[in-house]
Formats: sequence, C-alpha cells, structure tokens
Amino acid sequence: MVNYKDLGLVNTKDMFAKAVKGGYAVPAFNFNNMEQLQAIIMAAAETKSPVILQVSKGARNYANQTLLRYMAEGAVEYAKELGWAKPQICLHLDHGDSFELCKSCVDMGFSSVMIDGSSLPYDENVALTKKVCEYAHQHGVTVEGELGVLAGVEDEVQAEESHYTKPEEVIDFTSKTGVDSLAISIGTSHGAYKFKPEQCTRDPKTGKLVPPPLAFDVLAEIEKKLPGFPIVLHGSSSVPQDEVDTINKFGGKLPDAVGIPEEQLRQAAKSAVCKINIDSDSRLAMTAAIRQTFAEKPGEFDPRKYLGPARDNMKKMYMHKIINVLGSNGKAE
Ligand code: G3H
Ligand code: 13P
Ligand code: ZN
Repeated sequence: MVNYKDLGLVNTKDMFAKAVKGGYAVPAFNFNNMEQLQAIIMAAAETKSPVILQVSKGARNYANQTLLRYMAEGAVEYAKELGWAKPQICLHLDHGDSFELCKSCVDMGFSSVMIDGSSLPYDENVALTKKVCEYAHQHGVTVEGELGVLAGVEDEVQAEESHYTKPEEVIDFTSKTGVDSLAISIGTSHGAYKFKPEQCTRDPKTGKLVPPPLAFDVLAEIEKKLPGFPIVLHGSSSVPQDEVDTINKFGGKLPDAVGIPEEQLRQAAKSAVCKINIDSDSRLAMTAAIRQTFAEKPGEFDPRKYLGPARDNMKKMYMHKIINVLGSNGKAE
C-alpha cells in the first residue's frame, strides 16, 4: 500500500475548489509513454498550471501499471528540477470500470480515480460509485463519477448515441454516492470523429465541417441544481485542423475528423466545468510530427529524431490549451 502523498502527488480537492471559484479548468491529459509525460510536465511547469495525469485501463495494459505509477512519481521530481517548486500534479485513473480496478489504483498511489458506471442502470451506477467513494475516501483519494452517456468509444465501451445527463438526477446521484466531481454528457464524445458529417454543417468558404453546439442549456441546469460542484467534461479534444492536414499530407488518412471548437471549451472552462479531458489532440500532435519527419527525412532511424519533434509538438499543444483555452496558467505558483 502506497499513499499518493508520499509520492508528492495531490488529489483534486483544492485544485477543483480553486478552479470553480476562479472560472478556469484544470487540464486532464492522458499519457501512455515517456514523451507524452515529458511534454505534459514541461508545459505544466513552464506555465505553472495544475495538471491531472490520466491513465486509462488501455494505458495500463499498454505500458504496465507499475511503470506508469513510477513515471508519475518521477514526473513530480522532474517538475521540481524544471523549477516548479510546488508541483500540483494529480495521478488519476480514467474510466475505471470496476471496484477492484479503482482499489488497485488507490492502493498503488493514485491520488484520484474515476469510476465510470454510466453504462449501468442508474441504481447500479449509484451503488458501485458509492462503494468506490467509501474505499477511496478512507485514503484521501478523490473520486469522479459519471452520469449520462457519451457517444463513441470509452475505453472498451462503445456507445452509438449520446444520452445527455439528466439534470433531475444529479442531486440524488452526488448525495447518495459522495463523489467529489461529476462527469456529464452534453454533446462531447471521445476520439477524432466526434460527429458524423450528417450532424454537421459545412463552412461554405473552407468546406470544413462545423459541428453542432454543445448543450450549454443542460450544463446550466446542472449548475443550478449543484451550485459550485465540480463538473468534468470528457471528450474535449478540438481535433486541430492543421494537425489533421499534416497527417493527411504525409500519408495519413483521417477524413472528416472533427472535434469541439475551442471557443466552446473556453466557455465551458469559465463555468462549473473544472476538469477538461484531452487525449486525442495529443495523439494527433504526435502522429503529425512523426509522419512529417518520416516523409521529409526517410533516412532517419534514430527514434529520438522523430520522437523529439513529436514531443515538441505535443508540448506546444499542451501549452496552447493551458494558456489559451482552459486558463489554468499561473494557478499553481
Ligand atoms: O476515454 C478515452 C481515453 O482517450 C483513453 O483512451 O482507452 O485508448 O487509452 P484509451
Ligand atoms: P478526447 O478523445 O476528446 O481527447 O477525450 C479524452 C477523454 O475524455 C479521456 O477520458
Ligand atoms: Zn473520457
């Protein structure tokens, strides 16, 4: 049993209280490998932004849970080396799907876990989330629950259609379970294809897809029911067109990829939304840089020569999100 405090990590309690009050959102970036982690920490340290490092079940299977945990511990020390005296870094399980998985993360030093019972019948979601909260809270670990279903792939769960969170359920759910934050569904979804072309309109000038707006009315109703309660937005990559264009130019094939416009994420960050999840944008930034290097320098075979530019490109993206979209820069001095 390792407690997250011994690793220099923090839970989400203070981070979220400050973010809700300050009208900004804390970035939650997924990581699976060293270059992503380095880029995240460099960006957070440079901007003095609190940051949530997210590990999905898939990431645990890919990179090994023990290794990822030690990497996060190393990240705290690395952040200090970069001149960030008091790093505000949370290690969070993304889309935990069982009590056992959440418990294992709590026991190995995670400071926050998500129990995603959103695909279960309501009462089962309540019971499972409550059980995770009861265990996690004994160790000071914060818990994120979810109500409502996002379309697309959530780890190994695939949903064809989204179901918005029902505002009439949120008080009952949060009070019965004891969750510290609530992920909601208001039209975002996971991955680089968040909307089908038929759900979008086309910009007559550029020919690019324009997605339908998020359901800010549902968010407003939830905020009214739970004033000041931390809300989480999954599926919040904006799928930058320049990265998609670079990927397609250098041999990739991502037709009609579309994300959430940054203007809407800015609006969300100013509301009770205090955690914004971004994974796909990092994948796109990494892939674009690697494809470009491979195309322009076909003789290169030292991984540092293509992973290095990939890391630089991810860092640029993370900094942009922190400074220009979420507004979390300078909030963890
Ligand atoms: O919620 C989904 C995250 O982007 C994690 O994705 O399950 O492929 O690691 P993954
Ligand atoms: P994106 O696929 O939009 O990056 O969402 C990531 C996410 O929600 C991780 O939980
Ligand atoms: Zn998610």
